[in-house]
Amino acid sequence: MAARRLLGLLALAVLLAAADAGVTSAYRRKLEATADMPLDADVFRAPPGYNAPQQVHITLGDQTGTAMTVSWVTPDEPGNGTVAYGLSPETMVLSAKATLTRYDYYNYTSGFIHHCTLTKLKHGVKYYYAMGFGHTVRTFSFTTPPKPGPDVPFKFGLIGDLGQTFDSNSTVSHYEANGGDAVLFVGDLSYADNYPLHDNNRWDTWARFVERSVAYQPWLWTAGNHELDYDPEIGETTLFKPFTHRYPTPYRAAGSTEPFWYSVKIASAHIIVLSSYSSYGKYTPQWLWLSQELGRVDRKTTPWLIVLLHSPWYNSNNYHYMEGETMRVQFERWLVDAKVDIVLAGHVHSYERSRRFSNIEYDIVNGKATPVHNLDAPVYINIGDGGNIEGIADNFTKPMPAYSAFREASFGHATLEIKNRTHAYYEWHRNHDGAKVTADSVWLTNRYWMPTDDSN
Ligand SMILES: [Fe+2]
Repeated sequence: MAARRLLGLLALAVLLAAADAGVTSAYRRKLEATADMPLDADVFRAPPGYNAPQQVHITLGDQTGTAMTVSWVTPDEPGNGTVAYGLSPETMVLSAKATLTRYDYYNYTSGFIHHCTLTKLKHGVKYYYAMGFGHTVRTFSFTTPPKPGPDVPFKFGLIGDLGQTFDSNSTVSHYEANGGDAVLFVGDLSYADNYPLHDNNRWDTWARFVERSVAYQPWLWTAGNHELDYDPEIGETTLFKPFTHRYPTPYRAAGSTEPFWYSVKIASAHIIVLSSYSSYGKYTPQWLWLSQELGRVDRKTTPWLIVLLHSPWYNSNNYHYMEGETMRVQFERWLVDAKVDIVLAGHVHSYERSRRFSNIEYDIVNGKATPVHNLDAPVYINIGDGGNIEGIADNFTKPMPAYSAFREASFGHATLEIKNRTHAYYEWHRNHDGAKVTADSVWLTNRYWMPTDDSN
């Protein structure tokens, strides 16, 4: 009888332990090469018409979306740099002038790159916009984000490390099917630098490929290592040259001095973008800006505090192992003290979600260096699974660390649906399923308004 009771207790203990353990997904994707789409792929096709605007994309032009920056490229000549906009395709009576830029990268010369910030927009309103006057006019539309407020719902798409493979195309299609109002992009856009001489034509193909989403809703950019385009052997030593010429960010509105770290306030979320590839040590511009920025966060207006960066602080994959560690050591305590809700990262080409853990007790004297459960800590989500040419990172550390809640080596995207000041619904979708199938999901509660244990 006593033996049976002992067995029962043992079984219960095993069950409890299992309930507490994280999940290394047993899902095994079919093994196949991850190949870039060929240059003649339909998604890379240039729009018809002489000097037709191509590679159209938008991002926030100020901190809350009462300005929107429209960018595009004209291939043949500068053309007309005016954007007309208004509340219907027939009444685009407002207009703004673009700035024009070009750049050389070794033996490549870019097309004519236009950036135009539309200002004095109203929150939560659909606008139509057009450019290319004089030759080929193209018309698009977007809806500005709603005015920031504590219970304003909003749905973000979360994408990283996208590239331009057939898998990348699947990721974008899945995201389009699930729907979101803006994308938080955690870095590594085109992977043009994987080609000889960083073939910048692959920056052009990438921008034509994603136009179908980013011309209609803002994507917020984070700088990844594939944006560095540093190649001294061919004399290219200006960091982020193609990226900065092509992808503006609203950094000045955020009091930043560089485009690689900045913040925006969308609906009920305050989003801070950091650069893993700019200096962040004490006294550096990024360090100083972040120290001040955290003091500007107002959780009563924007309850959700979300941080984007490229190289993850918590990730249990053997690829890029510990690369984010120095930045974690520099900033983790600040983020825990600020009760950041979510930290999004990419870089590692797989999916992983953490529990609320922190590792901020270490100093050189006490030697404490174990991540511990901490309800003030953010959930770390690694969404570097966009499907680029470098393939999947399928080599997880064993055993699975206690801080990891779910991990899987598949391509996909995620969505974050903020409902109100206390609740947000997060789900991850793998590309090998139908777009609507949810492979991982969790209800997150807000660290400021409802700091319950939501990550187990
Ligand atoms: Fe990366």
